[in-house]
Amino acid sequence: MSNRLALITGASAGLGAEFARQYAAKGWDVALTARRADRLDKLARELEEKYKVATLVIAQDLAHADSIDTILYELKESGRHADALVNNAGYGLPGTFFNTSWEEQAQFIRVLYTAPIELVHKLLPGMAERNFGRIINVASLAGYAPGSSGHTLYASVKAGMIKFSESVHAEAQAAGHDIHCSALCPGFTYTEFHDVNGTREMANESPDWMWMDAKPVVEAGIDGVTRGRPVVVPGAVNKGVATLTRILPEPLGREIMKRQGKRFRKME
Ligand SMILES: NC(=O)c1ccc[n+]([C@@H]2O[C@H](COP(=O)([O-])OP(=O)(O)OC[C@H]3O[C@@H](n4cnc5c(N)ncnc54)[C@H](OP(=O)(O)O)[C@@H]3O)[C@@H](O)[C@H]2O)c1
Repeated sequence: MSNRLALITGASAGLGAEFARQYAAKGWDVALTARRADRLDKLARELEEKYKVATLVIAQDLAHADSIDTILYELKESGRHADALVNNAGYGLPGTFFNTSWEEQAQFIRVLYTAPIELVHKLLPGMAERNFGRIINVASLAGYAPGSSGHTLYASVKAGMIKFSESVHAEAQAAGHDIHCSALCPGFTYTEFHDVNGTREMANESPDWMWMDAKPVVEAGIDGVTRGRPVVVPGAVNKGVATLTRILPEPLGREIMKRQGKRFRKME
């Protein structure tokens, strides 16, 4: 009998690569997807050698409408199914809603919202049939905080992923399935995220205590989904921020975001 398998999106860097390492270290086989095939291949060799697990590399751009069907076809062709899904691929789109094109916004919604939801929708029936599934949707602390100017849809999409995860988890539990779905909500985390969206210099001005390494963030995500927590906020500082967003009066929260947001969000 083969090991359980985790399908991980955005596995070529940052949190996704760390998810792959941690699942492999637990003896899970991994299916890795992202656009950069060279990086995925390198990671796959590393995991095969180090942990003696099976790997599958499926290079796909989630912005393409047929990418999910291609990923699932490749998985099926290899004779495997996903016992866990980590919807992790993502990026930030700098600038305001006004000065970005609709094509950029539509692609952003596709990669960070539609594609992960489509994956969950298409994997759930198999998980229900086998009565086992673990789904981690990587959201963000931004999904809790009030919306700020700049990177406009980021907070909306991440808030949507939190609600979506809660609902999927609740539905699976109500149906009596052994399926857990968690939204993982990291704050500032050391990955390539801020290099990709061009905010590294701004982000580096945030104090060290606000940052976490990818390792504890991913540990919290895997632990949370294993325990059946619909929402997981990693780290004491992030938990504190999440609590504050709940108890502060909304106008005060918006004012804080107005002042602080420009320290880490690019407006042009
Ligand atoms: N780092 C933070 O501070 C932070 C905080 C909160 C939430 N997050 C969330 O954490 C998740 C992972 O980000 P990260 O911090 O690990 O960033 P990262 O190091 O930049 O990794 C992002 C991953 O997403 C993949 N990706 C981007 N666009 C894609 C596309 N069109 N198709 C397929 N894959 C794509 C990238 O692979 P390719 O370029 O090879 O395609 C890469 O593997 C994201 O959802 C992000 O919103 C990050």
